[in-house]
Amino acid sequence: MVSFKGLDIISTRILTKSQILKIFDVAKSMEMALHLGTSLKLLEGKILGSLFFQPSTRTRLSFESAMQRLGGGVIGFANPRVSRAYGSRAETLEDTIRTVERYCDVIVIRHPESSAAQRAAGIAQVPILNAGDGANEHPTQALLDAYTIWREKGRLDGLTVGLVGDMRSTRAMHSLAYALGKSDLKLLLVSPPELSLSSEIKEYIDKNPAKFEEFTNVEQATPLMDVMYVTRLNKEGAESEEEYKRLLQTYPRITLDMIKKGKPDLIVMHDLPRTDELGLQIAAEVDKTPHAKYFDQVKYSVAVRMALLALVLGAIE
Ligand code: CP
Repeated sequence: MVSFKGLDIISTRILTKSQILKIFDVAKSMEMALHLGTSLKLLEGKILGSLFFQPSTRTRLSFESAMQRLGGGVIGFANPRVSRAYGSRAETLEDTIRTVERYCDVIVIRHPESSAAQRAAGIAQVPILNAGDGANEHPTQALLDAYTIWREKGRLDGLTVGLVGDMRSTRAMHSLAYALGKSDLKLLLVSPPELSLSSEIKEYIDKNPAKFEEFTNVEQATPLMDVMYVTRLNKEGAESEEEYKRLLQTYPRITLDMIKKGKPDLIVMHDLPRTDELGLQIAAEVDKTPHAKYFDQVKYSVAVRMALLALVLGAIE
């Protein structure tokens, strides 16, 4: 297997299934250490540069938590307005990266432009972790999503996983389709026709072990699913305010009644936040049921990001 040391995590497309399972194994050991309260000093003396050009609650804070849980430190910004990377005299992304990499050992970056993480990786000497680049990918989200499925179901192969929502411009969906496409499972792609998965990603799945089937009606697909992964309508991805408002009216919303018509052990996931202009996309009543796993995803995210940091920094082979 290719060593993770120094690897940029820009996309899940380029990761092999054995690399993904390696990340899972390391994440599970991190999870156990967290559970036992074992103090891990694997990254003592190392610094994470955390560059968020777009808002985040989960990705930024879980990366910071992961680094600190491993004994490392964090520098960076949660808002580019407080940096020299914003405004009419903003320095280039390349110059920001050239600067920040001289202060740290690894960089995590979220940016509105699709090519930003790749551009950063093209010039940085330190590993770059893509925390979401435009409508392109969000690979660490997909890895923690796939890890959640693996932990909750004990496997990936043989499952039927519903991907419900905006597959056109939700970056986490793209990365998850690439990550799950490598397993022998079935993907049910459920979306309004305008928001379907790109032909490029469908062609990728066709060349890999996973199979897929497309639906426009979530109620029709739900009884077939072992896993329902939901994402909200991506406002930034809409072509206009009018299109966004129109799509929102028919966009899938998940109710307890709908879940009750599914398999008894169906798990429901969401990358969060689950709120839009119409309220909660997954009804609050689902939260109290054993089906709800969206806040478990949040918990698992720290272990997965600890694994990624330890691997790319060579603290674990
Ligand atoms: N899932 C996710 O990326 O959440 P944040 O936008 O809060 O980081």
